[in-house]
Amino acid sequence: MIIGNKIRLRNKRLADARGDYTWQTDPELARLDAAPLLTTTFAQYLSDYASALRYPSSIRHQFAIETIEGKHIGNCVYYDVNETKGEAELGIMIGNRDYWDKGYGADAVATLVSYIFRQTNLRRIYLKTLDWNKRSQECFKKCGFTLNGRLVKDGFSFVLMEIYRKQWEAHEIET
Ligand SMILES: CC(C)(COP(=O)(O)OP(=O)(O)OC[C@H]1O[C@@H](n2cnc3c(N)ncnc32)[C@H](O)[C@@H]1OP(=O)(O)O)[C@@H](O)C(=O)NCCC(=O)NCCS
Repeated sequence: MIIGNKIRLRNKRLADARGDYTWQTDPELARLDAAPLLTTTFAQYLSDYASALRYPSSIRHQFAIETIEGKHIGNCVYYDVNETKGEAELGIMIGNRDYWDKGYGADAVATLVSYIFRQTNLRRIYLKTLDWNKRSQECFKKCGFTLNGRLVKDGFSFVLMEIYRKQWEAHEIET
């Protein structure tokens, strides 16, 4: 369990599958994430989910985001871990809309970034988010991420953001 101020991060479990399926089949969430809408049945999804839990990947680390009271409100992940380059990509989704714009996302991102820099030798964490998703960009900025480029991929326009270990250390001292 990794404890933040408003949230805690924990390992994923099979009981999360129903909530995750609901979020991944939600058209608005898919649009905000530039992700394809999931079309598989829940039975198939559950079977794939169970396999992924049984055989964890060394380059993808996913966590459930819970409120301090223990309510599962979303997920976050760092993936494509590249030990040679010392970097990984970060992703987050607060699936429960009741928890948007209340600082839960920023706390989850800040908590995950601190965990990564404390527990690994990685020196850079990066992400991409849609250029019109101002909420996500504000959330990442609050955590010390800065803009480092733009990308058009599969018809979507993204902004690229990053944080280096040094910036994180400075941000930790400031906040
Ligand atoms: C993106 C997401 C992780 C952010 O988490 P969150 O808890 O809602 O964000 P926070 O409350 O920590 O920060 C959001 C900030 O953006 C601001 N904001 C919201 N909408 C905004 C807009 N249209 N323009 C500018 N700022 C905006 C909020 O006021 C807040 O800033 P403040 O704390 O200074 O008031 C979460 O909303 C989410 O998962 N949304 C759905 C999926 C999604 O967008 N996925 C893409 C992730 S890359």
